Amino acid sequence: MRARLGVVSARVVDVGAPGETRRLVLATVNDEAEAWRLAAVLRAAGMAAVARLEDGARWEAWIRHTRPISFGERLSVCFAWSEHDRTGLSNVVELGPGGFGNGEHPATRLLIEELLGRITGGESVLDLGCGSGVLGLCALRLGASCVVATDVKEEAVEATRRNALLNGMDRQLRASLALPGESEGPFDVVVANVGRSAIVELAPRLVPLVAPDGWLAVSGISPPQCTLVAGFLRPLVEVERRTSGEWAALVLAHGASVHGEHGLPRLGIARPR
Ligand SMILES: C[S@@+](CC[C@H](N)C(=O)[O-])C[C@H]1O[C@@H](n2cnc3c(N)ncnc32)[C@H](O)[C@@H]1O
Repeated sequence: MRARLGVVSARVVDVGAPGETRRLVLATVNDEAEAWRLAAVLRAAGMAAVARLEDGARWEAWIRHTRPISFGERLSVCFAWSEHDRTGLSNVVELGPGGFGNGEHPATRLLIEELLGRITGGESVLDLGCGSGVLGLCALRLGASCVVATDVKEEAVEATRRNALLNGMDRQLRASLALPGESEGPFDVVVANVGRSAIVELAPRLVPLVAPDGWLAVSGISPPQCTLVAGFLRPLVEVERRTSGEWAALVLAHGASVHGEHGLPRLGIARPR
């Protein structure tokens, strides 16, 4: 890294170890445009490189924005280049540059909370609208066995693949632009933080992808939209509704699994709030 940076006259000012698995190299260059150009070159070479200012209000905002996000003691999400100390955090999912979704937005958090409460280990997961792969990677950290991730944006698919590699999960996660067909499913868990209109549009293709004992969690909707969205996802039935301010997430399952006809109920009783 020093050699690479020396070629472009960047000066290494610090090498830190914010976590157990990563070295963080801080280098300075004279101007901001040059810093961004250098970051792009390093990214093209496969490194999780970013540019930031050295001080001032934008630097302070950057430091605030790059704090690790902890979900209790069982899971944390963090940018790979975060300068915050992350020793002591458990089950860290690291995110590199690009893509959409870093675990901060309430719509994402609501689904991560569902994963925390419901993943028991060994599940197959479909991460629809993967953005950065954050939901699929969290599911894997919590014990799911494999993830199919899909998005309509090439940038999101590529970021998801890079993030899987960054976390050593590239063998368990496959990302593509195409929504899996019924032959590839069904999945034990389907998570979709894609907003009301995409959920409604995709509903007929999503429902058959949920395994008989599985569950679907959708997010990116508002509390007043929940009943309407749940209606489009029939015959799945609502088993949980979680809200955070103006955001809501719904969990749905096949009626038979809620009522225990496929053995022990895994999801409990419908509890509309
Ligand atoms: C709000 S972001 C969610 C990203 C990440 N899953 C999260 O929870 O933070 C929504 C993502 O869904 C993708 N998306 C929107 N409509 C979609 C569709 N019909 N099929 C697949 N992906 C879609 C967008 O490209 C975007 O990456």
